[in-house]
Amino acid sequence: TKDEQLVICKSFKDKEKMRRAGRSAATVLDRLCKMVKPGMSTLELDEAGGELMKDMGVRSACKGYRSGHRVFPSYTCLSVNEEVVHGIGVKDRILKEGDVISVDVCIREDEMIGDNCRTVPVGSVSPEVERLLKVTEESLYLGLSQALHKNRIGDVSHAVQSHVEKAGFAVITNFVGHGVGRSLHEDPQIPNFGKAGTGSKFKKGMAICIEPMVNTKNAQIRMAKDGWTALAVDGLPSAHFEHTLLVDEGKPEILTIPEGYDHAEDFFTAKLAEVA
Ligand code: MF3
Ligand code: CO
Repeated sequence: TKDEQLVICKSFKDKEKMRRAGRSAATVLDRLCKMVKPGMSTLELDEAGGELMKDMGVRSACKGYRSGHRVFPSYTCLSVNEEVVHGIGVKDRILKEGDVISVDVCIREDEMIGDNCRTVPVGSVSPEVERLLKVTEESLYLGLSQALHKNRIGDVSHAVQSHVEKAGFAVITNFVGHGVGRSLHEDPQIPNFGKAGTGSKFKKGMAICIEPMVNTKNAQIRMAKDGWTALAVDGLPSAHFEHTLLVDEGKPEILTIPEGYDHAEDFFTAKLAEVA
């Protein structure tokens, strides 16, 4: 990981915009997760995401995203089972009972980005896969709890990694969380591995994405032929949970809060209670 370069602290107005973008991103994510069922193709789910975004007056920040000469083709990232991140919705990938799917929704609204992801079961899954999802989600909220202006980035990284490894799972090091704002990926990087007390200090007004990606056994990944999808080399299921949040004076403020919650704090408290 590189050193801190250009951290953009958000103005009052930009924070307001990011709250709106975050809520929209969370609404789309929530609705898509509720649609997941056996027999559905990942293309159908992606197109439903595109429609929702259109109805809400927001744009996908994935579709058209460039990496070198490659352009990301779908509205959302949909990664099934051993697919770790950046999966593409396709017609012939049919979800079946026992699968898991990581639904990554990244939108732009009024200039600002909201980015969030959740891995959900398709029907019922094995107890071990259920545990993988639970531990990965818990690691996100434990990491989030460390995102305080008095802390360092390594405090988040350590909280995530230690929880994952205590449970016997493997944290991925090829992809990291990131600053976010007018760009999807801003400085600094937020690794899911590292030592407490190390790295640069958080700053008030920073917006970041924390996004643990966790494999069942082996953290090693490879690229699929499509040039985007990252796969677990051992073929075992992978999980990914992500929120966009604001680091400020007090507790971290989760921006990607789903419908049904009026305040970021209520949502965070409810989620932390699940971890405990
Ligand atoms: N949440 C993903 C990330 O931060 C979104 C990627 S969009 C894509 O990397 F277009 F690159 F797939
Ligand atoms: Co992200």
